[in-house]
Amino acid sequence: MALSELPQLGLDETAEGMNDPKIIVALDFADARHAFEFSHRIDPGQCRLKVGKELFTRAGPGLVKSLVADGFDIFLDLKFHDIPNTVRQAARAAAELGVWMFNVHALGGEAMMRAARAGIDDAAQRPLLVAVTILTSQTDSDLAALGIDRPLPELVESLARRALDCGLDGVVCSAHEAPALRASLGAAALLVTPGIRPDWATADDQQRILTPEAALAGGASYLVIGRPITRADDPAAALERIQASIREAA
Ligand code: C5P
Repeated sequence: MALSELPQLGLDETAEGMNDPKIIVALDFADARHAFEFSHRIDPGQCRLKVGKELFTRAGPGLVKSLVADGFDIFLDLKFHDIPNTVRQAARAAAELGVWMFNVHALGGEAMMRAARAGIDDAAQRPLLVAVTILTSQTDSDLAALGIDRPLPELVESLARRALDCGLDGVVCSAHEAPALRASLGAAALLVTPGIRPDWATADDQQRILTPEAALAGGASYLVIGRPITRADDPAAALERIQASIREAA
């Protein structure tokens, strides 16, 4: 698919005419002070922010509320996986925090995913809800050790399909999985992809990386990018450099 054919690409406009930045910066800081030092250096119009388990466990919902009040769209990456009633209530709590997106584990099952969706259906502003299928840190042999014999790509696709059937908006997946998932799930599914590195950045501990442009060309909807931006001397400049390369490729 040509880059220019992708409706989701670049800093395009949503149906509401709002700016829809494709980059979600992974706010992987150990405490609120460092997270705010970073967030004050960047513009909420240029990116979203992902708050994961470490930062949330240390800094809590207060940090999320402050970032939302500062104008940032927050992806709350807590990967809920519990009994349906608990996940329904956790989903409602996430919506009440005002997050833009949050996630659950598809392996929690259909009842759990439907409960997550039910928990946000009457929210004043419904967050986007995506599923993690199989963690990219897990291999075929890890799954075999759990008694799961199905080939990984087949399992990922089946779980992703199930997530959409349960009313979820999409999945978190490797950018390498995006082309196959885009083909099988259709244009409306959100594909949120980590493991992204601009060609000027180091891979760090990521094994199978793609550039932002290649990930978007392969069907990714949103790109999770951490260290190339958070560890840059000038984070706003790093962000703008990535945005510019996305615009150029469009
Ligand atoms: O710094 P970097 O760009 O590698 O950060 C990627 C972010 O995406 C981290 O928060 C990491 O936990 C998350 N992530 C990932 N791979 C996955 C799922 C999430 O790198 N499969």
